[in-house]
This record gives sequence, structure tokens and C-alpha cells, in this order.
Amino acid sequence: MASFVQLPNVVDFRGDLTHIEAEKTIPFEIKRVYFIHGVPVGAERGGHAHKNLKQVIIAAAGSFTVSLENSEGREEVVMDSPDRGLYLHALTWREMSNFSPGTVCLVLASEYFSENDYIREYDVFKEMIRI
Ligand code: TYD
Repeated sequence: MASFVQLPNVVDFRGDLTHIEAEKTIPFEIKRVYFIHGVPVGAERGGHAHKNLKQVIIAAAGSFTVSLENSEGREEVVMDSPDRGLYLHALTWREMSNFSPGTVCLVLASEYFSENDYIREYDVFKEMIRI
């Protein structure tokens, strides 16, 4: 049930160049970009879903595990490749853990930040996906 976006990667002897073009590579208009870094060993992030927001998350450096849940069920995904994006649709509960030291998690988002779009209570989320 997890869906991925393959990011074009240009490889030569000098290293890799991964590129992203809004509305071409990413299946929505990108309104916001943020990145998570400096995560202490053992820390967990996420623990919420969104009502409308769509996101693509990328392990730009390092690795982490994403536990997903939506109306289709649950899945665990290891993100460890900078050229693979995980597409998080709306109404997807996500928890992120197992961050390796130095990880940079890049997030492309379809909307500007809005706390109103968050579903932070798991029971509320479960009720919403049941409908
Ligand atoms: P949150 O989305 O809960 O972080 P994570 O899912 O990585 O655990 O956001 C943490 C805090 O940062 C929260 O107070 C909201 C704030 N925030 C912004 O101000 N702008 C943003 O674009 C994001 C994603 C979060």
C-alpha cells in the first residue's frame, strides 16, 4: 500500500545528482519544503496524520523507518535511498523512528503549514478512516 516516487538520479565519477521538478516528478504542486535533521539517537517523530496534506518524504542522507497506517492497513518502510520518495497520501498515520546519525529527512508538501490540518489523536484518526 505504500507508494513511492522514483527521483531521477544522474550518476558519474564525481558523485550522484538527484533532481526534483514540481508537478513532473512530484504528483502535486509543492507549496512547502522542510527538512528534519539533528535527530538524537532513539528519538521518534511523526505520530499524526493529516486531513488534506499530501507529502513526499525522502532520506536525503542516512536512514529511518516509517510505520504507516491508512484505511488499507499497516506497513513499515525503511527509507535509506536519496533517490526514492515515499508518497504519504492524506489520512495516513505515520511514525518515524530508527534515525541513523546524520540523517536528513527532506519533505515536500502540497500545502502551507496549518496546525488545523493535523490529526494528532490516534483514536480520532481510527474513527476517520473507518468512515
Ligand atoms: P511536526 O509536524 O509535529 O513534526 P514531526 O512530524 O516531524 O514530528 O512539527 C513539529 C513542530 O514544528 C510543530 O510545533 C509544528 C512545527 N512546524 C512548523 O512550524 N512548520 C512546518 O512546516 C512543520 C512541518 C512543522
